Amino acid sequence: MRSWWRGRTADTVPLPVVAETDGREVRPAVRPGVRPGVGPAVGRGVRHEAQPPAVRIRGLVKRFGGFTAVDGVDLDVARGEVFGFLGPNGSGKTTLIRMLTGSIAATRGSIEVLGENVVHHPERIASRIGYMSQKFSLFGDLTVEENLRFYAGVYDVPPERYKERRDYVLRMADLVGHEQARPDELSVGLKQRLALGAATMHEPELLLLDEPTSGVDPVARRAFWDLIHDLAQRGVTLFVTTHYMEEASNCTRLAFMYRGRIIADGTPRELRTRTLSSPVVEVRLERQGPGPKGSEGGEGPQGHGDAGRADALITHLESSAGAGVGDVYASGAAVHAVLDGPGAGDGTGAGDGTGAGDGAARLERRLRAEGFPEAVVVPVTPSLEDVFVTLVAAQRRV
Ligand SMILES: Nc1ncnc2c1ncn2[C@@H]1O[C@H](COP(=O)(O)OP(=O)(O)OP(=O)(O)O)[C@@H](O)[C@H]1O
Ligand SMILES: [Mg+2]
Repeated sequence: MRSWWRGRTADTVPLPVVAETDGREVRPAVRPGVRPGVGPAVGRGVRHEAQPPAVRIRGLVKRFGGFTAVDGVDLDVARGEVFGFLGPNGSGKTTLIRMLTGSIAATRGSIEVLGENVVHHPERIASRIGYMSQKFSLFGDLTVEENLRFYAGVYDVPPERYKERRDYVLRMADLVGHEQARPDELSVGLKQRLALGAATMHEPELLLLDEPTSGVDPVARRAFWDLIHDLAQRGVTLFVTTHYMEEASNCTRLAFMYRGRIIADGTPRELRTRTLSSPVVEVRLERQGPGPKGSEGGEGPQGHGDAGRADALITHLESSAGAGVGDVYASGAAVHAVLDGPGAGDGTGAGDGTGAGDGAARLERRLRAEGFPEAVVVPVTPSLEDVFVTLVAAQRRV
């Protein structure tokens, strides 16, 4: 008898839904020993081309009562990708992931995961995928090792392989020596590594990670992403949601979701260079003082201006909308503005467009005449954040 099963279910465990009423899912009771068969794990050096795609979604809709959380999504994720899934809070990312795992049923549409039809046979992928849910999924009353043992049971890791898998995960997650600790005794970064480790106990072919690094400090986040890339090197496909743009830029491909729809997708480079048809400029408020603009020894361009001035600048630019400036938003210590007119859609980035240079010079002259004598305006190649903010702003106007 697997005693760690008793009374436990976890959001990390993709169990098929048998019924759904008013948006509330109903899962079957977990019964020890009754688990779907174990699918083949992907080993090193697997040729992805010969296999069905990791994810293929067509016309996917999810309604909760009268509310449409996922609204007609088509999405393909190839094997071997580190696929980033972005979108504002409430845009439907988690809902889509939960349909991929089979833990909630789709209202309409088709979902294939690793070649299996999840809508009809969610149980067939349960042991081939790993899911790290956004909500914390470790059991606080179990030790690190007991948590791993629990997930090994959920995912049907053969008993003779348990020790090897446990040792691998403990090493991978940097948890050797912490086996008897409770999750709450670990740092947030270590806890997230443990949760990732738990989701990989059974060597899944596809890992779905829902905001795995939220609340994790930058150093630990970087270490976590090293783990993600290690897993990708071993042949695992990763599907990761994040709100961190620097993480998004580490992905092989991205999709942006907004109000239940995918509003853009592509490689980070494609999104940066092809999505925006207008140039982006950065407005810096340089501290008044000695030294010509941009000279060595003068005041640095960013981080010196006071936040109140930046806010005033944003308000000013927003109130004069229509005068050649579209969206305006804070970007770190500077202000970014999307200029009206062409310049960024040439595939080379706004920074290369002559239109961007002219527009930047015009805007700089204007701002200096309108009460911002310290303004310096330079064309920039759009960042993912620029793309994201601009796309969302455009959708809000629709
Ligand atoms: N079980 C449910 N019943 C009713 N509404 C739900 C349910 N689950 C999600 N929703 C709603 O669906 C929308 C999408 O939620 P979801 O959690 O998928 O967003 P998200 O993109 O993951 O957001 P976040 O970035 O905050 O995690 C939200 O408006 C949410 O309130
Ligand atoms: Mg979410």
